[in-house]
Amino acid sequence: MRISEQLAKMMNEQFGNEMGAAMQYMQIATYFDGRSLPKFAEFFYAQAVEEQEHAMKFLHYLLDVGAEVSIPAIAAPVYEIPDTAASFQMSLDWENDVTAQIYALMDRAMEEKDYAAQAFLQWFVTEQIEEVASMETLLDVVKRVGDKNLFMIESYLTREEESA
Ligand SMILES: [Fe+2]
Ligand SMILES: [Fe+2]
Repeated sequence: MRISEQLAKMMNEQFGNEMGAAMQYMQIATYFDGRSLPKFAEFFYAQAVEEQEHAMKFLHYLLDVGAEVSIPAIAAPVYEIPDTAASFQMSLDWENDVTAQIYALMDRAMEEKDYAAQAFLQWFVTEQIEEVASMETLLDVVKRVGDKNLFMIESYLTREEESA
C-alpha cells in the first residue's frame, strides 16, 4: 500500500463527502424542477454529476495506490429549501466546507511527504477555487434580481433555446 492508513481513511471519507454533495445538488435540482425553473435545475443536475466524478477520482486513486475502498455512510441531504437564494447560500457553504476538507487532506499529505497524494490533491485545490467563485457569483445575481425576476430570466432562456 503506497499510502498511509490515515490518509487512505481520510480519502474514503472524502469519497463520502463528494457523494453527499452530489445528493445535495440533486435535491436542490428537484427544488427548481418542481418550480418550473429548468435552467437552474439543469445547473444543479450538472453539479451533481461533477461531484460524482470527484468521488470517483478518490475511489480510483485509492485503488491505484493499493489501498482499500470502504464507502462510508452518506448523510441525507437537506430537504427543506426556503427559497432560491437559500439554495445558493447552502451550496456556497457546502463548497467552502469541501475546500476545508481538501486542505486538511493536503496538510496531511504534506506532513507525510506523500508527494503523489499532493499532486493528486492539487487538482482539487484548483477546482475548489472555481466552484466557490461560481456559487458566489450566482448567489450574488440571485440576491439582486429576486425570485420574480428569476422566473422571467428562466422563461426567457427557455424561449431562446426553443427558437434556436
Ligand atoms: Fe467536489
Ligand atoms: Fe463542488
